[in-house]
Order: sequence, then C-alpha cells, then structure tokens
Amino acid sequence: MARQVTLFLFTFSLGSVIGQVSYTISEELPKGSLIGSIAHDLGLEAQRFISGKARIYTRDGSEYVELSRERGLLLVRERIDRETLCKQTTPCALHFQIILENPMEFYTVTIQIADINDNAPVFKKNEVVFKISESAAIGATFVLEKAVDLDVGINSVRGYELQPTNNFALKLYNNQPDKNVEMVLQRPLDREKEEQINLVLTAVDGGEPQMSGTMLIVITIVDANDNAPVFTQKTYKATVTENSPRGTVVVTVTASDADQGSNSKITYSITSRNDDESRIFDINKENGEVMLTGNLDFEESRNYHLNLVASDDGGLTDSSKLIVDVQDTNDNTPAINIMSKSNVIPENADLNTVVTMINIEDRDAGENGKVHCYTSQNIPFMLKSSTSNFYSLVTDSELDRESASEYNITLTCSDEGVPSLSSSVTLTLQISDVNDNAPVFQRSSYEGYIVENNTPGLSIFIVKAKDADWNQNARVSYILEESSINGVPVSSYVSVSADSGVIHAVRAFDYEQIKDFQFCVKAQDGGSPPLSSNVTVKILIQDQNDNPPQVLYPVQTGGSMVAEMVPRSADVGYLVTKVVAVDVDSGQNAWLSYKLQKAADRALFEVGLQNGEMRTIRQVTDKDAVKQRLTVIVEDNGQPSRSDTVIVSVAVADSFPEVLSEFTDFPHDKEYNENLTFYLVLALAVVSFLFITCLVVIISVKIYRWRQSRILYHSSLPVIPYYPPRYSETLGTGTLPHVYNYEVCRTTDSRKSDCKFGRVDSQNVLIMDPSSTATMQRIQNEKNILDEPDSPLEVAASLSPYRSLM
Ligand SMILES: *[C@@H]1O[C@H](CO)[C@@H](O)[C@H](O)[C@H]1NC(C)=O
Ligand SMILES: *[C@@H]1O[C@H](CO)[C@@H](O)[C@H](O)[C@H]1NC(C)=O
Repeated sequence: MARQVTLFLFTFSLGSVIGQVSYTISEELPKGSLIGSIAHDLGLEAQRFISGKARIYTRDGSEYVELSRERGLLLVRERIDRETLCKQTTPCALHFQIILENPMEFYTVTIQIADINDNAPVFKKNEVVFKISESAAIGATFVLEKAVDLDVGINSVRGYELQPTNNFALKLYNNQPDKNVEMVLQRPLDREKEEQINLVLTAVDGGEPQMSGTMLIVITIVDANDNAPVFTQKTYKATVTENSPRGTVVVTVTASDADQGSNSKITYSITSRNDDESRIFDINKENGEVMLTGNLDFEESRNYHLNLVASDDGGLTDSSKLIVDVQDTNDNTPAINIMSKSNVIPENADLNTVVTMINIEDRDAGENGKVHCYTSQNIPFMLKSSTSNFYSLVTDSELDRESASEYNITLTCSDEGVPSLSSSVTLTLQISDVNDNAPVFQRSSYEGYIVENNTPGLSIFIVKAKDADWNQNARVSYILEESSINGVPVSSYVSVSADSGVIHAVRAFDYEQIKDFQFCVKAQDGGSPPLSSNVTVKILIQDQNDNPPQVLYPVQTGGSMVAEMVPRSADVGYLVTKVVAVDVDSGQNAWLSYKLQKAADRALFEVGLQNGEMRTIRQVTDKDAVKQRLTVIVEDNGQPSRSDTVIVSVAVADSFPEVLSEFTDFPHDKEYNENLTFYLVLALAVVSFLFITCLVVIISVKIYRWRQSRILYHSSLPVIPYYPPRYSETLGTGTLPHVYNYEVCRTTDSRKSDCKFGRVDSQNVLIMDPSSTATMQRIQNEKNILDEPDSPLEVAASLSPYRSLM
C-alpha cells in the first residue's frame, strides 16, 4: 500500500488556512491502518493537536478516517470501498479538514483512494436463451449482454471468452469497450444432430489476480425443413393374386423425415405413368398403405411399376418404386375356336378323315392354362392333338348314315387349374348318304290272288320294297324280271308299275287254263351304281263259276232218238239211267246237283240230287205212258249258279218193238239214221288216223326222253278233280267262256255246231297257245298218248252208236 503524502503550503489571506496535505491509500484497508502522520506533515507539534483540540471536519459527516491527536496520525476508521465511494469516478478522493482551535486554524486533507481488484465481472443474467433456426445463415450475429465490473481501470472487464466454439465465435470490439459483445454463427446448425447448444460466456477483468464472471447461453435450435422424407426401401415388391377384392392392401410403404413437426409430416402419393395404374392402385396418403381400387387382371398385365412419392409439408420429397407382381388365378375358361369344319361327310368316308380343326386358347398361365380336350363318348370320332392347342377331330370308325345320320359332337376342354374350368362346344355333323343299301322287300315272297276272268289291267296287289338309303338312293323302281310261263313271256301275263310296285294283270286269266304262276320282281334303287334285290311273286288264280255244268249223258242230239227203257215190271227204285254231268270249274262251282224239272202227273221217277241217278219211285202202272220225256236240271253250286238241262226220254215198255212203234213218229228218225251212219264211218277213220299218229309220237317221245329225261313241266296243267279222267282231255283247254272260246272254234277245222263243246283234237292245244314251246306241245302230246287206250275220242265215238241203238 503506497502511501503518498503531499504537503501543500497555502498562504492564507486571513491567516486561517495554513496548508493542505494529500495522501493516497488503497481501498479496503483494515480498520486502524495508518494513513499518514498528519501532524508531522503539517509541521505541527504533536502538542498542538492536543491543545488545539484538533478534529476532522467533513461536510457530509462521513467518518472513514480517524485522527489520533496524541500521536498526530490519521488512521482508517472504517473500511473504505472505492466503488461505494466513487463508483466509476476516478480518481477517487476523500476531502476533509482538520480544524484546530487556539488559534483556530484548519487544514485541508485529501486522501486519494486507489482501486484494488476486488470485484469480478458480473453478467446481469445467469442465463440467456436463444432460439435459432437451424437454417440460420453463417455470419448471423447475435448480441450478447455485456458483463459489468465495478472496478475501474485495469481492474474492470478486460475481455470475453465463449466456450465451446463449435458453431459460434465471439466478435469483440476491443478497441471500443462500449460496443456490444456479439456472437457470430460460424458453422451451420443441425437440429437433427443437436437440438440445443449450451455455451458459456466468460468475462474476465485485468486485475491481479484476474477475476471472471460467466453466463450460460442456451441455444435452442429451431427446426427447419432441411430433411426430405426418406423411404425405407428404394424398391418395394409385392405380390397380389388377380381378382383380389378392392381394398386389399398390397403393401405398406413407409418414409421417415428427420425433421420435426409439420416438417416431418409425410404425405404419400403415387405418380403413375398411365391411367390404368392410377385406376387400379391408390395409396393412403397418411399411412402409406397401397391398396387396390380396381380389378387386377393377370392376363392384361402381369406386373405394375408404380412410382411412389413421399413429401413433407415443406415440399421436400423422396421417391420409390413399387413393383406389384400379379399372380394368376384360374379365371379364364379355355376358349375353343373352330378353325375349319365340315358340316357334312359321306358315310363311306375313310378312317382318319379330318372333320373339324379347332384351336384352344386359355389365357391363364401355368397349370391354369394347360388345357385338355375330349369328346363325347361312343361316337365314331376322335380328337387328335397335332401340336399344342391344336386339335383335329377325325373319324375313327365306320360311319353308317342309316344308323346315325347326324352326330352332335360335344367337345369339352378343361384346364388343369384348381378348380378346373372348362368349356364345350357342340358340333352338328350330318352324314351324307351313299348308296350302300339295296332295297329290301317287305316279305321274302309274295302270294297274290286274282279271280279268273278279270279285266285286263286289273291291279292284283302291291309289292313293296324299302331302301334304307336316302333320297335318290332310296327311290325304288320295280322291274319285272323276264321269264316265261308255259312258254309265254311273263310280261304278257302281268306288268309291274315301276313307281308303285302295283302288279297288274295284262290279260284275263282262266283258272281252267292256269291256276298259278310265279315270277320275279326286282326292286332297284336310284343310286349310282344302283343296287337291287329280287322277290318271287306267286299269283294264284281263283276259280269263278264261269262254266255251266255240262251233261255228258244222256247225249243230247237233235232228236230224241235215245230213250231209256223201263220194263213195266220194274220194281220201285229201279235204276232207269244216270245223268252224268261235269263242270269244269272247281270246288263249289263244280259241285253239281240234279233235279227233275217237270214230270208227268203222278211222278214215276226221281233223280238223285247228288248222283243224278234216275230211279222209279213207284210201280209202273198201265196208265203210265210208254213214252215219257223228263227234263233234268243240273245245277252247280256257284254263285250265281249255272245250270244245264237234259231231256231224258224214257220208254216204259216190256219189249223193244213196242218201243219202236212208239217212237216211229219221231220226226227226224230217218235223217238221224243217215247221220249215225255217217258218224260211224267218220269215227272209224279218225280212230285209225289217231292210232297211227300216236304210235309215231310215242316213239319220238321215247327217244327224246331218253335224251332229256329231266324236262318235265309240272305246273298248271288243268287237272280238275271232279272230272272223269278222260274228260278234261276231251275238252282240251277250251274252257274259257264263249267269248274266248269262239275264236278258238273259228280257227279250228270244226264242223257245224259241235264247236261248242270243243273237238277231240290235240290240235286245239296248239292253236290255243300259238306261242307255246316245244316242250308244252310235247307234254301235251305225251299225255294224249299215255291215255291212248281209253282215248276220250274213242269213248265219244263208241258211245253214240251204242246209245242210238238203244
Ligand atoms: C342334335 O342337336 C339338335 C339341336 O339341338 C337336335 O335337334 C338333334 O336332334 C340332335 N341330334 C342328335 C342325333 O342328337
Ligand atoms: C335276280 O334274279 C335274276 C334272275 O332271275 C338274277 O339274274 C339276279 O342275279 C337276281 N338278283 C338278285 C339280287 O338276287
């Protein structure tokens, strides 16, 4: 502590002020510290102070200093704080007077107070807070509060220090202490690294020892949108099955933003290249869920590439990719395309004829798109797979239009998906006809009936043949097969209507000539070449009552020369005669009955109904006439019946002369005899001629038979059961009604009215059938010859004379 004592000598004008003393002390001296030896310095005797009752006088009455009178010293009475005393004023001094009495005089004393470093720099606040945006620019300046040091001079604030210095530096204006202390941003702030920075600002003074004060600077870094959102992946992948329902979440994408608050609020969106994608996908902008808003079709697009964008409120963005793979489901049925098809194939088509070619398409992938096709069972067609997805339908067995003229072929194709989908198509295939079926007659043989004497052209019956083929191939024509019956071409007997199969009679038939015949009818179809088949037709001719009975005996002549004799003595039941009649018809038509038409008054005779036997029915009496004429009616049983009558002359007499006398009055007696003679001669001549002819014929026949013993025609020679065996021969074949017979007669070398009953002449046969073959003739002749011994001619010739003799 430097003590300075300055002694000033003043000249008082009035002698009251003698001098002035100045001291310098440092502040904060302890109490009682010596300031100076004032008495000495004033040049006074110590006694003077005592005597003079020296005291200190201050204007303000402050008592920092005390005066020791006895020792003549100035002492520190109270702690002197310069800062209190003078604040920042320099220099700082205490002014007071020392007043003495006896004589009164005063001295002015000045005590200079020297500063010591007893105060540290002080900040007004312990802590200041700054909010600085992290985006603050480098160089940004922040004004800091200055520290205050009560000391002055060198002891006052000398400088500042800021720790740490990562981001900020102090800007000091050392030359101008009054200037502010400023903090300058030197390195950028990053809220994301450090949200808050604590700095300590230290102020130091220049004293010795140095003192300091600190202040905490709290810097809160305010977020700036300096971070863009970041997706967790650069590329997202997702797999979705097609046809997933709308709203299905495909994937959830996430982006993060290091910023805070609204700067980290992320909004998601899809930026799509095309409408399609934006139609199908949508993203929840809040939480990043990508979901379906449309229908996914694997067949349209197998994957989608979506661009995702995440943006924060500040407009910073990040993008990412989303690859959505669509998984196939079996949602497409196989499509069957008919590439080519025949609607009609002929029934004789070869095996493996391609009928239809089809192409299969299934848009699904993998198993879902693998397709197999098959056809309906039990059809003569087969599916052949040529290359994948191409099939051809071919025939694999024989076709027959007659059993199936149409096929509905169902093709079914199914894929291998689970569950499997299938589709089918039905093809209608017509089988066209080929002439592979011959007409078939409804019966294996036919039998037709026709009543004789038919009108030519009459239809007899119908033959019918069916052909299983179609149309022209089934159009049946009927053709009469050429053959001959009894040497006559069959076409002159019957004709067949080509269209209808109706068989017509060409001529009128005579049962008595031909009873049946058979021929073949061919049915032929209209195919090319045509097919045909045969059937045998047998025509049976039915008898008609077209011939009246003919009385053979008694022979009718012009006169009634012939008479039966009945002795008067005849008993009852005496057989007078037997009327013999024949009917060339057959059956009922030839069943004859005999009746007496009229008899003399008391009937003497009766005729057996069946046998034609005429018998007496009572004893002859004298009254009975010698000559009796009885008319016998012979009727057949036909419908209507036909009849013949014969007049039987009966002579009731006991002797021949009696009879003669009775009969002499017969008008034609003489002529009759002449005729008889003539007939006898003629008969003899004819018999001789025939005999010779027969001999010749027999010999030639025997020779012929020896050569060709097999030729024998069995059919249709008229054999009439009721006839006496010779009779048919007698009549030859001339049993047609008169109309037909008439012609026959004219061509014959006949005589007179005899032609009515025909002639005993084999020539008749020849003339009747001019076209007859040699065989016919031969057989006819043969028959004649075989019957030779009982030749009807002989009988006829011999009967007449005998009868006339009676
Ligand atoms: C085929 O189908 C058609 C039409 O459905 C039908 O009229 C016809 O009878 C069928 N044919 C066969 C052979 O089933
Ligand atoms: C039909 O008959 C004729 C002769 O009668 C014969 O030549 C032909 O072969 C026969 N046809 C058939 C298909 O039977």
